[in-house]
Amino acid sequence: MEPLIDSYGRRIKNMRISITDKCNFRCTYCMPAEGLPWLKKAEILSYEEIERIARVAVEIGIEQIRLTGGEPLVRRDVADLVRQLHEIEGLRSLSLTTNGVLLKQQAKALAEAGLTRINVSLDSLVRERFAQLTRRDQLDRVLEGLAELEQYPSIHPIKVNAVAMRDFTEAEVLDFAHLARRKAYVVRWIEFMPLDADQIWRKEDILTGGEIKAIIEAAYGPLVPITTGDPSETARRYTFSDGIGEVGFINPVSEPFCASCDRIRLTADGQLRTCLFATEETDLRAVLRSGGSDEDLARTIRNAVWHKELKHYIGDKRFKRASRSMSRIGG
Ligand code: GTP
Ligand code: 5AD
Ligand code: SF4
Repeated sequence: MEPLIDSYGRRIKNMRISITDKCNFRCTYCMPAEGLPWLKKAEILSYEEIERIARVAVEIGIEQIRLTGGEPLVRRDVADLVRQLHEIEGLRSLSLTTNGVLLKQQAKALAEAGLTRINVSLDSLVRERFAQLTRRDQLDRVLEGLAELEQYPSIHPIKVNAVAMRDFTEAEVLDFAHLARRKAYVVRWIEFMPLDADQIWRKEDILTGGEIKAIIEAAYGPLVPITTGDPSETARRYTFSDGIGEVGFINPVSEPFCASCDRIRLTADGQLRTCLFATEETDLRAVLRSGGSDEDLARTIRNAVWHKELKHYIGDKRFKRASRSMSRIGG
């Protein structure tokens, strides 16, 4: 079978599936305080529809699936979907990105359903600062969720993601580095991107991965790069000189990784996005709901992938904001 490739020769292996646009947080870098108008139930793909798209996508070359939101765990019975997806032959990795608030209750069911990796978003370890950023006073629940995850060794690694913003993130860089050394968490910082619904993003607000690395190295000495040979990885990975702990830097702005991008995204309402910053989408829900066959779906996905965008233009005159903000894409 022909590989799933775009017109620049990039092989697409990774699909991020957003299963809801709703969220129980209101992170300032993502959503307005009042929330956004949520999608109606009828607009959202059912688990059966998601499973069908995922199965066809895996048949034509997708190897990794990550479930995202909004906050994915606010949707009912996520473990049931995980179980259905886990059964797809040929799928190598099934993971989830969550804010962690509902993890304590759901970790066991998710592990039993076959989830293999989890990324938890966590931007501050200080209660007041966490509440200020997420507009919800729920730090303890996220930490309890993380602790609960440690009971399930089949879920590995556990990654902690912090969005890096100037004049906010610096204060806790060393505390997060310490967390990476103390716990079995891979801690990663993501450069702030212009995907927030309130459009508060300014270039000056970016705190680069390089700057954070310098703060860590001033305290701990040089970090040691970890090379995996996987060019599509979003993060530059490092361990400390004594080999204890792993940190990573996701630098989409200061060091774009578009040239090795292997990702496509499916939104909760069934639109295929071939770039995080896409301004156009492909309507897979319409193909499904008009009685399209698996071949029709496969052809539509292949065609969309072929036209995948070359790169994002953050910081360039050509930059246009994506057609949706972050919580409706899923990160
Ligand atoms: P793993 O490395 O497999 O754990 O996954 P990941 O890093 O892709 O997943 P995660 O959900 O933790 O992604 C972290 C963040 O990196 C995303 O939320 C985005 O902010 C950013 N990111 C991921 N993929 C892309 C991409 O294709 N382009 C850009 N610009 N940013 C991305
Ligand atoms: N820039 C960078 N990362 C963001 N995320 C949400 N909004 C932004 C943004 N504007 C991150 C979340 C989560 C992932 C899904 O995306 O913190 O880790
Ligand atoms: Fe919700 Fe995630 Fe957006 Fe925060 S970043 S508001 S947790 S979707």
